[in-house]
Parts: sequence; C-alpha cells; structure tokens
Amino acid sequence: MARLAVFVSGTGSLLEAMLKEKLVVHIVLADRPCCGLEIADNAGIPAALVERTDFTKNFDRVPYTHEVMAALELHRIDLVAMAGYMTVLAPPIFDRYRDRILNTHPSLLPAFPGPHSVRDALDHGVKVAGCTIHVATPEIDRGLILAQQAVPVLSGDTAEKLHERIKQIERKLYPMVIRQFLASIST
Ligand code: GRF
Repeated sequence: MARLAVFVSGTGSLLEAMLKEKLVVHIVLADRPCCGLEIADNAGIPAALVERTDFTKNFDRVPYTHEVMAALELHRIDLVAMAGYMTVLAPPIFDRYRDRILNTHPSLLPAFPGPHSVRDALDHGVKVAGCTIHVATPEIDRGLILAQQAVPVLSGDTAEKLHERIKQIERKLYPMVIRQFLASIST
C-alpha cells in the first residue's frame, strides 16, 4: 500500500478526521509548532517539524523545500496530503512528487484561491461556498480538481462560522478522496 504523509500548520482537525476514518498516516510534517504535531504524537505517528522561522518574502523556499523532501524520502512516502499547511513549497517537490501531492481548499475553485478564501467569498456575497480537493501544483490552488462539495451560505454567517461548516464537509470528503487515490497508486 502507498505510504501517506500529512502536512499541517494549524489545528490539525483534518488530520484528526483522517485518523478517525482509519487512514494510515506514515508521517505528519509541520512548518511550525502546532496542534497537528500533538495529534500525531498522541496517535503514535512519526512527526517531523521542519520549522519555518522566517515568514518574510526573503524566506529561502528552495532549501526549505529540500529539507521537507528529505523527510519524505526518509519515510519512503508516496503521497502527500496537505491539510491546512501554510507554506508554499518550491517547484522541486512538485517535480519529485508529480501528481502525488493533494490539497483541500475551502472554496469552490477556481473561485477564491488564496489564504482568505472564505472571507473573500462572503465579501463577494456568494450564496454558495464549498470546498475543493485537488492535485497541488507550484501554482497555488490550481491543479486537477478531484472532488468538490457545495456549502450554502446562511444569513448571519461570519467567516469563522462558514469555514467551520466547510471543514465539516472536508473532514468527510478529503479522507474519502485520499483513500481512493492511495488505492489507485501502484508502488
Ligand atoms: C481547511 O479548511 C483547509 O481547506 C485549509 O485549511 C483548513 C485546515 O483546517 N487549507 P485544520 O487546521 O485542519 O482545522
């Protein structure tokens, strides 16, 4: 069976959902100390902190990306699932793991790419938001769309409330798509 890495930066609620859905995760990798690493520790999954200490534009992305790739090689990873990972990685990882890096994004792509998608969608007055599971490429929030699900916007929605309802969908849809993807990979 193909070996899975999950990349996190935040609460790790998607990671938790994957574990609840019984996906086998071989390494959890984070770019900063975060709850996702604690979830990995508690579940007995190897955790790697490849820390990004420089959050400026001068951040040296290529060496950072090579460090991330070294952790993947060490754990013989076949598929990466980004789950709220907030660092944009450099092209070498997308060459090495071509079509083997997945992402979930809290909008119906190609609408509202970027880090503030839920707020942007609300600001735009959309009536339907949602999430997209896609293959990640060096271009942010592009790449082949694998699955999408709509989430209605309710009156009185804030970005937080709407994002939480979107995440409830992602927690079901993403593990399902990853499972299918893993099954389709021959190692
Ligand atoms: C998800 O909404 C995902 O689409 C976005 O970041 C969120 C991750 O949530 N990229 P969490 O940190 O797992 O709770």
